[in-house]
Amino acid sequence: MIDDGFELTGRVALLTGTGSGIGRATALTLGGAGALVVGADLDAGAAAATASEIRDAGGQAEAHRLDVTERPAVDALVGDVVARHGRLDIMGNIAGVPHNRLVTEVTDEELERVLAVNAKSVFYGCRAAARVMVRQGRGVIVNVSSGAIDTPAPTLACYAMAKAAVAMLTRTLATEVGPAGVRVNALAPGVIETNFSRQHFVDEQGEVVPEKLEAYRKRFGQMAPLRRVGTAQDVADAFWYLVSDRAAFVTGQVLRPNGGVAMPW
Ligand SMILES: NC(=O)c1ccc[n+]([C@@H]2O[C@H](COP(=O)([O-])OP(=O)(O)OC[C@H]3O[C@@H](n4cnc5c(N)ncnc54)[C@H](O)[C@@H]3O)[C@@H](O)[C@H]2O)c1
Repeated sequence: MIDDGFELTGRVALLTGTGSGIGRATALTLGGAGALVVGADLDAGAAAATASEIRDAGGQAEAHRLDVTERPAVDALVGDVVARHGRLDIMGNIAGVPHNRLVTEVTDEELERVLAVNAKSVFYGCRAAARVMVRQGRGVIVNVSSGAIDTPAPTLACYAMAKAAVAMLTRTLATEVGPAGVRVNALAPGVIETNFSRQHFVDEQGEVVPEKLEAYRKRFGQMAPLRRVGTAQDVADAFWYLVSDRAAFVTGQVLRPNGGVAMPW
């Protein structure tokens, strides 16, 4: 029998953004691999639905309402998980929001908000988890950055700044906690079809328009050597690899499930 190294039974995983898209797919994937998944999202109902799905499939999961920008709440949830489950093996800082505005038109409030949700929240999650994991002498953190760090494009300044900060936080933290046996990596997904990109393919009522969806897939798919946009599952699978024992020697890296859109060294 082959020990495939992807088994996560007995591991406790805290993931943010599990109500939708990449966070949801990651929660289902890790839950299916045996992890106890603690899912957290601003949308408590959506996070609860994901947890139910995991339990219905025979896995273990719970859900919490969390605004990742509220630092005391992030610390409290990490503390609560460790108090109740005795450990934290996997931390996934996945929650994030899109933002598109020309630099000259961005307001102070927008700038603060995008940096708070997409960058500072990841710092809070990393810090809280790293404190626990260094004490434990083991643990894995995965942060979700973005392909926006590879290709400058108009209107993406705030988003890309925040995601570049996530990549650099990942690399720096990896140097600090590596000696304690803790790994820290980031994912920089390309264009992934989730609610995040809905603006491209819905009408004014928010309903999906099939022709717009096709146009979105074609337009963004063409940018990739693999000639398609990504799915949340594409990213969840990369996430699973990074938290598995198969990635035991991988830390401080930015892995790019992006269809080949960007290929930095
Ligand atoms: N979809 C893409 O094309 C793409 C590409 C690269 C990177 N990403 C990144 O992947 C991550 C997940 O995106 P997705 O595509 O799954 O988006 P999504 O919109 O489908 O899901 C994001 C989830 O995060 C939650 N969330 C938002 N703000 C929150 C907050 N303050 N506190 C707690 N939860 C909050 C939302 O409720 C939602 O459930 C994000 O960090 C995003 O920047 C997405």
